[in-house]
Amino acid sequence: MKPRVLVTRHVYPAAIAMLQERCVVDYVDSRDVMDAERLARKLSLAQGVVCQLTDPLTADVIAQAPALKVISQVAVGYDNVDVAAASARRIVVTNTPGVLTEATADLTFALLLAAARRLPTAERFLREGRWQRWEVDLLCGRDVHGQTLGIVGFGRIGQAVARRAKGFGMRVVYASRRPAPDDVAAGLGARHVPLDLLLKESDFVSLHVPLTDDTRHLISVPQLCAMKRGAILINTSRGPVVDERALAAALDEGLLGGAALDVFEREPEITPELLQRDDVVLLPHVGSAVTSVRSLMCALAARDCDAVLHGERPQHPVNPEVLV
Ligand code: GLV
Repeated sequence: MKPRVLVTRHVYPAAIAMLQERCVVDYVDSRDVMDAERLARKLSLAQGVVCQLTDPLTADVIAQAPALKVISQVAVGYDNVDVAAASARRIVVTNTPGVLTEATADLTFALLLAAARRLPTAERFLREGRWQRWEVDLLCGRDVHGQTLGIVGFGRIGQAVARRAKGFGMRVVYASRRPAPDDVAAGLGARHVPLDLLLKESDFVSLHVPLTDDTRHLISVPQLCAMKRGAILINTSRGPVVDERALAAALDEGLLGGAALDVFEREPEITPELLQRDDVVLLPHVGSAVTSVRSLMCALAARDCDAVLHGERPQHPVNPEVLV
């Protein structure tokens, strides 16, 4: 009998076609977000689920899915999945790292440049018909070249951001639990420093850590106060890594020069004070939003879900210990 797979939301069609070859697919081809109750109901017969970061795969939901063998997340981050609860049931959890590294690093750099050179403000100024003439001090921003970039979290994406920074002639420091191998750090011209030193030295601080209990509000009042005056904070990781209210207050106090955010604490809600500020660039969680990348992410998740359900090894298990 073919295994049953729930696909919780709209994905690129090739992923569905691929799953349908060997599975019975319950495809919820919708743009809406499923709440926990509906998700649990839809999962009652499923052996596999292809899910997204909006799906609450909590311990409670997992407990209501007795046949579940695999949770395949269409994203690199999987903080919406209770991996401990899944592992306790020997349910494999997979994600989609690698394919989105360069796209996310590109978007990070786009945000850095947009904040430094005030691109959204300048574009609004033009579209609103306010541009009259060239002026020597019109919409001046700040330098990128020669500035210090502090990268917090030095995994694939953090390192890809460092590569871009090198090309822009920036000095790079990074903070991470484990320093990168010497040759990797040397190749990127990046120096490992403690977080407090990074915050003190950096003109731009960019966050690239996963969301865990340890990184929730990693950037809050003490860290914002420790940042160099006028520095710009960039977040393309997960919203709750930054205490958004504290960030709004720090901007208000003039401690920071600005912020550029692709992710938020309570998506899609945005702290209203941030929406009102001109020194904040805001994007709707589009870090990896490149058509080829997103379709590869869907395909990877589908393939790993199918693999587990057919006794094959998935490419990207996040809890490989349950496979042995
Ligand atoms: C997107 O945010 C992802 O984690 O892939």
